[in-house]
Amino acid sequence: MLQQTGFIATLRRNADRMAFMSPRDIPLFLRSARTDAAIARVRAIDDDQAAFDAAYNGHNGDPWASNDGRYRYQSRKYDTLVSLLPSGRRFAQGLDLGSGLGLLGRRLATRADAVLGLDISQRAVEHARTLNADMPSLRFDQGDIRDIPVALDGCFDLVAIADTIYYLPQPLADSTLKALAMRVSRLLKPGGVCLLANHFFFFADPDSRITRRIHRAFAWSPGFTVLSEHRRPFYLVSILEAA
Ligand SMILES: C[S@@+](CC[C@H](N)C(=O)[O-])C[C@H]1O[C@@H](n2cnc3c(N)ncnc32)[C@H](O)[C@@H]1O
Repeated sequence: MLQQTGFIATLRRNADRMAFMSPRDIPLFLRSARTDAAIARVRAIDDDQAAFDAAYNGHNGDPWASNDGRYRYQSRKYDTLVSLLPSGRRFAQGLDLGSGLGLLGRRLATRADAVLGLDISQRAVEHARTLNADMPSLRFDQGDIRDIPVALDGCFDLVAIADTIYYLPQPLADSTLKALAMRVSRLLKPGGVCLLANHFFFFADPDSRITRRIHRAFAWSPGFTVLSEHRRPFYLVSILEAA
């Protein structure tokens, strides 16, 4: 009987997880693939900021349809990411690296007194400021995760990086990922938390392989201890604590 109850609980848990994606969300993934291809085309002839600015100039300023009410996948994902933070813990200063439209930042602001979003795209920053004008505790600035000002070191007790690192120029060497992990750890106060999330489809596809290497580099970093890891359809999450 006990075994049967466990089996039913597992079935329910899996059904809940699968509910994070429905067939209605499939166009969202196709749109993302088209946006990524367009970014790659601009990058071949211009710099990274121009490529991401061009993406945010189209599609009504929402290149990955993250804020499109027709799709529920992204908003459920943001809610899940925030729910995976250590429970009951409140943060003072949060930082969202690669903040996009600030949709994750909005949710983080429910757990933090203030959140700063940095994004390489000035257009993204402008859209995020407009979209989140109702949340005074959220700020957005233009910034590159490869060149984060040293003045920000030790200023945060929460840093989030969702679906950003795999956009760094390829090939992404493990040494680059490890250096970035160290850099991010220095932004945190001791005991501060890093929320790392990246698209993960299945083991063999090239994008998922990069995701695994990113998460491995952060887990390797002497600046971090892994608190928990979570696999969801279709992303991987690591919650890390700064040493
Ligand atoms: C797929 S979007 C994710 C946005 C947001 N994190 C979210 O989950 O909604 C990737 C974001 O990373 C930003 N980005 C790409 N390369 C970056 C870099 N080197 N530094 C900072 N932001 C970057 C892009 O402009 C874009 O807004």
